[in-house]
Amino acid sequence: MIGVDLGTTTVRIHVKGKGVVLREPAVIAVLRGTTDIKAVGEEAYRMLGRTPGNITAVRPMADGVIADYTLTEKMLKAFIHKVLTGPARFLRPTIMVCIPSGITEVEKRAVVQAVHEIGARKALLIEEPVAGAIGAGIDIAEPIGSMLVDIGGGTTDVAMISMGGIVVSTSLRIAGNVFDRDIMAYVKAKHNLLIGDRTAEEIKRTIGGALVLPADQVVTMEVRGRDLIDGLPKTVEVTSEDVVAALRASLDKVANAVRQVLEQSPPELVSDVIERGIVLTGGGAQLRGLDVYLQRITNIPVAIAPDPEDCVVIGTSRALDMAHLLQDARTRYDRV
Ligand SMILES: Nc1ncnc2c1ncn2[C@@H]1O[C@H](COP(=O)(O)OP(=O)(O)O)[C@@H](O)[C@H]1O
Ligand SMILES: [Mg+2]
Repeated sequence: MIGVDLGTTTVRIHVKGKGVVLREPAVIAVLRGTTDIKAVGEEAYRMLGRTPGNITAVRPMADGVIADYTLTEKMLKAFIHKVLTGPARFLRPTIMVCIPSGITEVEKRAVVQAVHEIGARKALLIEEPVAGAIGAGIDIAEPIGSMLVDIGGGTTDVAMISMGGIVVSTSLRIAGNVFDRDIMAYVKAKHNLLIGDRTAEEIKRTIGGALVLPADQVVTMEVRGRDLIDGLPKTVEVTSEDVVAALRASLDKVANAVRQVLEQSPPELVSDVIERGIVLTGGGAQLRGLDVYLQRITNIPVAIAPDPEDCVVIGTSRALDMAHLLQDARTRYDRV
C-alpha cells in the first residue's frame, strides 16, 4: 500500500512499513515540443532556468492547478516507478493519491488513470486537508470539528472537517511561491535589486516570519542580485523586518480565508475548534511566528502539526486503512 502526496512543489511517497521513501521536487524536464522525459525530480530541478534551447524543465502544477496534464501524468508515473522496484512492481499495490484541492474533476480522473496505468490494483484519491488531519493524528471519524490550514507552495487550503468529510473549505492561490515573489518585489522596490526565486525562498526560510521580532532580535542576511540601474552584481542586507513587511498583504489574505471558513461553519463545529485549536500543515507552516499571527487574528489557539511537511503523505498512506471512514472523493473515483 502506497500513499502519494502530489504536491505543487514537492512529491512525496510513503510506503507502509517503510516510511517516506521519496521526497522530490515536482519538476519534469522534457525535450522541447515533445513529452520525451530527460529528467524528473531533483535532477530536473537543477535544470530549472538553466536549460539549453532544446530542453524545457517545468513545474507542471506550480500554481495549484495542473498546467500541463500530460507532463503531470508522466511525472507521477516516473516517481511511482522509482519506488516500485523489483518484485513490488508486480504485486499490484493499492495507491492512494493526495491531490491539490484546486484540480478539476477531469484532472482527478486523469490522475486515477495514470495510477491505473502503472499497474495499481486500486487507485484512490484523498483531499489534502483530510490527509493532513489524519497525518496530524486527528481522529477524523468523530463528529467533532477540526480545522486544518495547509500552506504549500501553490495553494493554501483551509478546511473544517467532521466525520471524515469536509464541511466547509476554501483554497487560495496564495502560498509559498507567492511569498517568494513578494520578497522579490520588496527587494526590488527597496534596493533596486533583482533576485531569483531561489534566493527569495532562501531569505524566507532563513530570516522570514509573520511577525516583527523585538528590536534586539532582528536578524539580517546578505543577499546577492543584479542592480537594476547599472546592471551589475550587487550585495545588500535584508532584515527579518523587511520580510515581515513584504509578506504582510499575502498573510492577511491567508488570515481572511481562515476567518471566512470559521464564519461559514456551523457553530457547534466552531466551538470544537475553539476548544481544540487550529492545526497548521505544509511547508509554509514553518514560517516563523505564523501560528502566533493566526492565533492573534482568530482568537483561537493554533498548533503546528508535528512534521508539517510530511504530515500529508503520512496521512494519505494511513488513510488506506481507514478508507471505509472517508467520505467524498474516495468512492467516486474508485474504479475497482
Ligand atoms: N522554514 C520554512 N519557512 C517558510 N516556508 C517554508 C519553510 N520550509 C519550507 N517552506 C515552504 O513550503 C512550501 C512547500 O510546502 P509543501 O507542503 O511541500 O508544498 P506542496 O504540498 O504544495 O508541494 C515552499 O513554498 C517552501 O518555500
Ligand atoms: Mg501539500
